[in-house]
Amino acid sequence: MKGKILTLLRASEETISGETLIDKLGITHVSLEAHIATLRDLGYGIEVTPGGYRLTGSPDALYPWEFPTRQSNIHYFEETGSTMDVAKNLAQNGCAHQTVVIAGRQTKGRGRMKRTWQSSDGGLYFTMVLRPSLPPSQCFKANFVASRMLSQTLREKYGVSAMVKWPNDILVDGRKLSGMLAEMETEGSKVSFITIGIGINVNNDPTSVEPNAISLKEILGRDVSRKELLSDFLDAFEARMDDIASHDVIAEWKQHSITLNQKVRIVTTREVSEGVAIDVDANGALLLEQADGTVMTIVYGDCFLI
Ligand code: BTN
Repeated sequence: MKGKILTLLRASEETISGETLIDKLGITHVSLEAHIATLRDLGYGIEVTPGGYRLTGSPDALYPWEFPTRQSNIHYFEETGSTMDVAKNLAQNGCAHQTVVIAGRQTKGRGRMKRTWQSSDGGLYFTMVLRPSLPPSQCFKANFVASRMLSQTLREKYGVSAMVKWPNDILVDGRKLSGMLAEMETEGSKVSFITIGIGINVNNDPTSVEPNAISLKEILGRDVSRKELLSDFLDAFEARMDDIASHDVIAEWKQHSITLNQKVRIVTTREVSEGVAIDVDANGALLLEQADGTVMTIVYGDCFLI
């Protein structure tokens, strides 16, 4: 109902009478007043006059009703430990394909390689639950689609020169704007679900914890609507996933890559290696040519540009 009220208010620059709203929404006056009071408590500017109601401002809110086409699949928490854990729990309890768990902030945000992910107010933190019809060995493609479609969304919508760094970081001017974490649960030879968690520095300032990070706000010099960014990204990502069979996911990812033909240091849980990143193979692995000419295939690790 809150979404419907906001849609009506947003469609009009004039004050709308209570009677008109009640009529269009099919609710009682008491119920309308209760919803308006809740919306105002949540930060929406709604002017209430004898003539009715007028929307004067909206917070940069990520509530489910702000995503009308996917409202029932959105779970929003002002604060949670990690959206990865909430999403996994929902997935294990049968939630729908394309469920999205969003947090205003995280107290236990997780990064790759057991790092923490700084998750203060103003950033965008979400995890998608996917039930793709791909065999487990092909699920890595979803991560490459996600990072490619995020860099594309950032380029098209904000004109930023977003690049992907293997495996799935997004960098702008060599500084990290976004990171991605993926987990998978299988049942026999089938994928039950995958969860892809993405953290994007939007209006937060990550630099006190990560000096080499950057936010969209710092790049653009203004606040950015997290709702619009998320909505555009989800639309682009889901459309490409629905059509994944007719795309060479890795080739598309490489078009935005900052990693290839660069000198890099690869840190895995077991070793540190240096060389030139000569390619990403069809399985998403990084091919590292070392000084002696041998080529290592790196499946999992952290990549630092030297
Ligand atoms: C990395 O670059 O190391 C990956 C960072 C992933 C962070 C996101 S924020 C949303 C989701 N919830 C988490 O706890 N982590 C991911």
